[in-house]
Amino acid sequence: MFDLRDKVAVITGGRRGMGRAHALALSSRGAKVIVTDIDAKECALVVEEIKSKGSEAECFKMDVSNKKEVDAVFDEVIKKFGRLDILVNNAGIYISKPALDIIEENWEQMIHINLKGQFLCAQRAAKEMAKNKWGRIINVASIASGGVGIGIAGGAHYTASKGGVIGMTETLAVEWAPLGINVNVVAPGAIDTPMVNSADMSKEEMDALLQGIPLKRMGKPEEVSAMVVFLASEEASYITGATFYVDGGWLAQ
Ligand SMILES: NC(=O)c1ccc[n+]([C@@H]2O[C@H](COP(=O)([O-])OP(=O)(O)OC[C@H]3O[C@@H](n4cnc5c(N)ncnc54)[C@H](O)[C@@H]3O)[C@@H](O)[C@H]2O)c1
Repeated sequence: MFDLRDKVAVITGGRRGMGRAHALALSSRGAKVIVTDIDAKECALVVEEIKSKGSEAECFKMDVSNKKEVDAVFDEVIKKFGRLDILVNNAGIYISKPALDIIEENWEQMIHINLKGQFLCAQRAAKEMAKNKWGRIINVASIASGGVGIGIAGGAHYTASKGGVIGMTETLAVEWAPLGINVNVVAPGAIDTPMVNSADMSKEEMDALLQGIPLKRMGKPEEVSAMVVFLASEEASYITGATFYVDGGWLAQ
């Protein structure tokens, strides 16, 4: 099960955190992995690590909110690897700001990267996947994306972007089902990555948050990668348009 040999996967925001873990996990199942990020320097380290284990990988600088850059990188990937099977739309930012202080630029930056970026990559990827009538797109949202009763103070623009990801995914799943492309969402809870560690939260606030999670700890990036690998595989053939929460039981409270 979960054999990804001969599959080509693009991961956005892959230099660190969950993106890095997803790249390593997909490559461990045999996928050829293209690690992209707005910061290419650290991407190269991830690629080195994958290659040292004998797998194929490549890195590209790609700002997901820049259509020209997205198209150019996907063109290059297709030229080099001849196909595209899996896209993990992982790149994202979180900048905490009280709603009364958010200015238009803050709003636009968040929506451009977290929501428009996922659409640009998904659209370009789907054009390629449709040629083989097979594709898997995994969009990363968050437990803070609406509909489940989790509001995050300071994250009005973030939650709006992630809620948009879920709505967009359901529609793409419907439109692209006839093309053989399954589109799903992974919505993590609190995961131990640089994003969470740089969030504007005191130790006391973090402890209180973790006490509210049944498993009483943050998740590890690899614990989210397991879901990503499953959704990227043939075994997820009857799953599309769905959202999977990987949250240590947070929503079960
Ligand atoms: N860590 C958590 O608890 C948590 C919870 C829910 C959802 N998420 C989501 O998971 C995803 C991964 O987050 P993470 O926690 O690993 O954070 P992270 O900050 O470690 O990783 C995010 C990556 O995205 C890259 N990035 C930022 N802007 C970009 C752009 N314009 N183009 C390309 N790459 C860009 C960053 O350089 C970074 O490598 C994000 O979408 C985030 O919103 C994280």
